[in-house]
Amino acid sequence: MNKGFPEEGWTDDAIKAHLEGTKRNDIDWKAGRSWSLMYRVDEAHQSAIEAAYTSFFSENFISPVAFSSLRALERDVVDWSASLLHAPDGYEGLLTGGGSESIFLVVLAARDRARKRGIRNPELVMPATAHPAFNKAADWLDVRIRICPVDDNQLPDVERYKRLIHSKTILLIASAPSYPHGVLDPIDEIGALAHEKGILFHVDACVGGYMLPWVEKLGYPIPNWDFRVPGVTSISADLHKFGYAAKNCSLLLYRSSGILDHQIYVRSDWAGGVYATAGLLGTRPGGAIAAAWTSIRRLGQQGFLAIAKRNMEAAEALRRDLLTIPEIELVGTSSMNILAYRTKQNRPDLFILADYLAEQGWQVDRQHKPLSIHITVMQHNQGVLDQYIADVKAGLSFAKQHPERSGEGEAVMYGLLARLPSEPLVKRQVKDVVLDWYQSDKTNDLVIVEGTSSYTQPKVPTWQSFLNNLLLRWYRWRQK
Ligand SMILES: Cc1ncc(COP(=O)(O)O)c(C=O)c1O
Repeated sequence: MNKGFPEEGWTDDAIKAHLEGTKRNDIDWKAGRSWSLMYRVDEAHQSAIEAAYTSFFSENFISPVAFSSLRALERDVVDWSASLLHAPDGYEGLLTGGGSESIFLVVLAARDRARKRGIRNPELVMPATAHPAFNKAADWLDVRIRICPVDDNQLPDVERYKRLIHSKTILLIASAPSYPHGVLDPIDEIGALAHEKGILFHVDACVGGYMLPWVEKLGYPIPNWDFRVPGVTSISADLHKFGYAAKNCSLLLYRSSGILDHQIYVRSDWAGGVYATAGLLGTRPGGAIAAAWTSIRRLGQQGFLAIAKRNMEAAEALRRDLLTIPEIELVGTSSMNILAYRTKQNRPDLFILADYLAEQGWQVDRQHKPLSIHITVMQHNQGVLDQYIADVKAGLSFAKQHPERSGEGEAVMYGLLARLPSEPLVKRQVKDVVLDWYQSDKTNDLVIVEGTSSYTQPKVPTWQSFLNNLLLRWYRWRQK
């Protein structure tokens, strides 16, 4: 719907009230009821990184020449991180706009390096649990993906992984750890393969890069996963996750020179002058760089260690309490404050429990293949762990008493998604949901309540319409 461009400006007070009002239907993460998406320390840290962001709010880091300040701050973050990740001298690295960008750039650099070496139809190998950002990058860059299945512990079998490598393999991938279950892939062993065969090996430590080093220092058993493994050629680690910085910021670090070169884009004959970038973005927010610098500088090793200790202890407590519940088991052995749990043999139905928890106001991250619920335990969750366990217990009783609920709520949608035989069908349906967010007839209506503006409930499709459409498509597909 064409709303017309605003005629007159609003007052600052009206804008502030409107922005706060729009948050009404968002998840209440401040109350600790979300188990993902937010990586925060406390209010003091938040104020410090916000101030840093604001102080570089207008600076545009497309030009490290114009803003040598930002170049120096970025340099510090890269150098500090290189020492944390045991990069030997000779490394090259930069900050990007997030994990997906770091991953995209690694695949791009590997592909273009391979092209220059005459490799056509390149391939990469990754465990099934690797982040979809690799699928996205490979699909966009026309690199074929070979997926190594994982076992019940969510670990890839290295012998199978090895069999997927051949003359067109340009890049090996492993996670440190995987997002869904927090499981660290066998990086030592894959590194040995990479080293032996002379293939690039990227470790995706987007979630663990600024956490695992402290977990190791705290004495938890963490096998080598960073540049101490000889075959590792690059690592991505997100500052906007366990670096406790502002969004969007991730580190991409190469062990040695000669790879980053392939991701640098230059146009020298443009009317606007010589144009060069090392990443995907043109204009880059200076604030994100300043906030990343501030986060590390402010916390220091001692600060990171203390936060990691609290988060690990809270995760251990939650894990212990979950395991006292006879119906519950964990999926995979996590290396950090991430865990995934399920009901044994899916009895009672895990997604009835999930729906029950959602009704109690928890943000529930449902995972499938295998069915499980994802949890990342952060500082803001620490006050609600007992309540969560109590709700899980109540939810299990509810699920036992109401098995018919597996035909309702999101339980039925996820159940169906896991069983549907046609992946293209599911993809088409999900695409339609995403399209729906952007189409002009799906606008939100502005409402004014007692002088304060907000929106009506955002018009995202309900699970019911999603399901109906999916079933309809499935039905038509079977008729063909
Ligand atoms: C292991 C892993 N890799 C990559 C990503 C992608 O990062 P981003 O969402 O910052 O693009 C994530 C995000 O959660 C992740 O957990």
